[in-house]
Amino acid sequence: MNKIDLSQCLALMVLAACAVPALAEAPSTALPAAALESFRPQDPAWAARLVPDDTQATCIRSRNLPEGEEAAALLKRETDSVRFPADGKLLGDWRRGEAIAQNGRGLQHSDAPDTVVGGNCYACHQIAPNEIGYGTIGPSLLGYGRLRGQGEFIQRYTWTKIYNAQAYVPCSIMPRFGTQGILGEQDIADLMALLLDPDSPVNAEPAAETSNDSADR
Ligand code: HEC
Repeated sequence: MNKIDLSQCLALMVLAACAVPALAEAPSTALPAAALESFRPQDPAWAARLVPDDTQATCIRSRNLPEGEEAAALLKRETDSVRFPADGKLLGDWRRGEAIAQNGRGLQHSDAPDTVVGGNCYACHQIAPNEIGYGTIGPSLLGYGRLRGQGEFIQRYTWTKIYNAQAYVPCSIMPRFGTQGILGEQDIADLMALLLDPDSPVNAEPAAETSNDSADR
């Protein structure tokens, strides 16, 4: 075999070796260079967000379905990251909570770094009855406190869920608002009030049935 034959042969072997196993391998957890270059970070802290943390890496590798020890480690890590307010006050002002739930601005690469950051909850949830433009990726939260109660258990569950959705559901699509520093403690308390305060429109009794049909029955 002369020199040219050998290199051609090697090239073919490399091609053959790469083509098949790549399909079976878990996806890489690093973003491709082209994707990284397409971002124009406005401050250095933003660049750090392009590196997946341990949980994001697990979710990428397992295609959002981690199992066994890996899932258990993820749940523990995310649960351990949840912080409760030092003063123990989990309920703030529902009016502020509604504004935060409505606000979809902040932390996008086109936003100025000082943009007020919202929760964008309506993008995925139905919440107060007068907002008719909402997404349905998440369950409806209309009537949340009226249906669930407002006791300590449901308060701690809801705080944990907003602070870090993955403390309950590995690889949840819901952002980890507290753990990732998207929202502060006061913001989360205000959202809690939106969901749980008996005076919040979320918990108003549904309008009475007024159709003639039901009156006849
Ligand atoms: C990108 C979509 C998305 C966004 C944005 C989002 N959520 Fe969720 N949320 C979900 C999904 C999906 C679930 C159900 C699966 C799960 O539990 O992770 C959920 C579950 C919940 C639950 C638990 C509901 C239950 O029945 O126990 C609460 C409470 C909640 N979200 C509140 C919020 C609040 C408050 C915000 C805004 C700060 C918000 N979510 C933003 C997708 C989202």
